[in-house]
Amino acid sequence: MNEGKHFKKEKLINGVLRNILRDKKNIQYKKNIYPNFKKILDKIFSSNSIRNYIYSTLFFKPINYQICVVNNENALYGKRVFTFDRKINKDCFVQDIGNFEVILSVHKFFKDKNVIDVCAAPGGKSILLNSLGFTVTAIDKSQKQIDKFKENLSRLKIKMNVQKIDFLKKKFSNKYNSILLDAPCSALGTFRRNPDVTVKIEPSIIKKHQKTQIEMIEKSLKVINEKGFLIYMVCSFHPFETIEVIDKIMQKHRNIKIHDIKSNKMIKKQNGYFINPLSFKEFGGSDIFFVSVLEKIK
Ligand SMILES: C[S@@+](CC[C@H](N)C(=O)[O-])C[C@H]1O[C@@H](n2cnc3c(N)ncnc32)[C@H](O)[C@@H]1O
Repeated sequence: MNEGKHFKKEKLINGVLRNILRDKKNIQYKKNIYPNFKKILDKIFSSNSIRNYIYSTLFFKPINYQICVVNNENALYGKRVFTFDRKINKDCFVQDIGNFEVILSVHKFFKDKNVIDVCAAPGGKSILLNSLGFTVTAIDKSQKQIDKFKENLSRLKIKMNVQKIDFLKKKFSNKYNSILLDAPCSALGTFRRNPDVTVKIEPSIIKKHQKTQIEMIEKSLKVINEKGFLIYMVCSFHPFETIEVIDKIMQKHRNIKIHDIKSNKMIKKQNGYFINPLSFKEFGGSDIFFVSVLEKIK
């Protein structure tokens, strides 16, 4: 309606909206899967049943989830995951079930209970790690996102060291044993909630993300101790941001070992894992994440 006011076409827009409401039942939506989106999904998921499930979830409002910071026997999954409709439960924060699965499956690699989360805001993964017994140092370069993070922390009554820092610019005096890098990406894996991402698969933009992702891994490798673990993850399934990023790192660094992850909710590729949304069908599906566990061996 604001656009209508802007163009002085409120009456026309009202008329169109009224007609839509009158005829709501008969409206047919064109179920269009954008060819580039399909091509990329097909590359990653070779199973027909997974692909068909993913395509079917494109046209329905997804289930949203919330995660409890303490175990709760009434949860639908992992003693922590609930659906999120209108109300957020006490002790819960909003996060996708796939996100929860990734952290649950990889947190055991962090033998040191002090983790630095270098792209932490608005805090979903830091809060989950905190609830699993880790002391998290959380940094992010966006003040706006940090403000949201702090709101979450204060509602949940959690104390955490959160700082506005640009990870790529910061000169670190300490080294770390455990780094979580939830890197900025195209967010292609959140297509159910953000359908617009399916049409924004512009290779030049995704290559830009790749450049940042590689820089961030390189920086992490500089500030990680020998035998330390780096968890790299993105909410994308684009090969440029996932498999290719790790390939390029492995080609350049001979002192990295990629570890296997135990989870029956993920699909293994040569150097990382993708969440299999079909494995969450009974709960309402999930976003798609990629995760890779890197150890700096010397
Ligand atoms: C995928 S989001 C992180 C989501 C967060 N881990 C969570 O679970 O809620 C990526 C974040 O990286 C941050 N970011 C991007 N470039 C950064 C940089 N150079 N240094 C630190 N943070 C950065 C963005 O501000 C954004 O909040």
